[in-house]
Amino acid sequence: MTGLSASSAANAVDSTGVGPRHVAIIMDGNGRWAKRRFLPRVAGHRAGAEAVRKTVRAAADMGLQVLTLYAFSSENWRRTPGEVSDLMGLLRHYLRNEIEDLHRNGVRLTSIGDINGLDQDLVVLIEEGIRKTAGNSRLNFVLALNYGSQDEMVRAVRDIARAVADGRLAPDEIDVDAIESRLDTNGLPPLDLLIRTSGEKRLSNFLLWQAAYAELLFVDTLWPDFDGEKLAAAIADFGARERRFGGR
Ligand code: FPP
Repeated sequence: MTGLSASSAANAVDSTGVGPRHVAIIMDGNGRWAKRRFLPRVAGHRAGAEAVRKTVRAAADMGLQVLTLYAFSSENWRRTPGEVSDLMGLLRHYLRNEIEDLHRNGVRLTSIGDINGLDQDLVVLIEEGIRKTAGNSRLNFVLALNYGSQDEMVRAVRDIARAVADGRLAPDEIDVDAIESRLDTNGLPPLDLLIRTSGEKRLSNFLLWQAAYAELLFVDTLWPDFDGEKLAAAIADFGARERRFGGR
């Protein structure tokens, strides 16, 4: 820990005097956490869901604007049917039990990714959660579900191609804004800090476009051991970075 309290962490600033508004996390290491304890993988995911609860609460208390969590990637379908079903079950349980609490805490829930690829009852739970919390103005908690950056870009490019084919957009009008406004993250502040837990150093198809100028932080903590203190430490690390955005 850095000595920075959770409540002051979001006030940690980088050298340009700005604290992170948008933090995203690749939550990795549930399986290894379970293995070290001779437990089944699902026990790691269950502990991971508890870490989600703690981290979201802490992010709201710190005054972060946006926290985006990579909960299920478009490639995670390649896991065994049993593990996919465990992850979906945990998500169902989380949404049923936590939305009321998120709402009471002023947290707004949104999602990125193709949620229509999930079971219909999950789609309904997510949409209800989004609708219920839409007016909240503290933390925007963004769940990345059935999300893959390449898939997101393919969907954006198809939309642009349709606009060009219909004559609504000229090829020369395709610019950064035309692409960004078609990404799932449209309307969110730029990604400031991208954290990956468990010591792996990969982006795994997460927010590739959005990470263009994000600060990257790889921590050894396994996701189930992550919490508000670990988030505060990550934000303090961000505070020590010098961001130049391509300039000097
Ligand atoms: C990676 O651990 C984690 C995931 C596959 C996704 C994260 C899922 C959760 C935190 C559980 C439920 C989420 C919510 C929102 C309730 P891993 O299995 O890849 O770990 P390993 O690399 O150690 O095997």
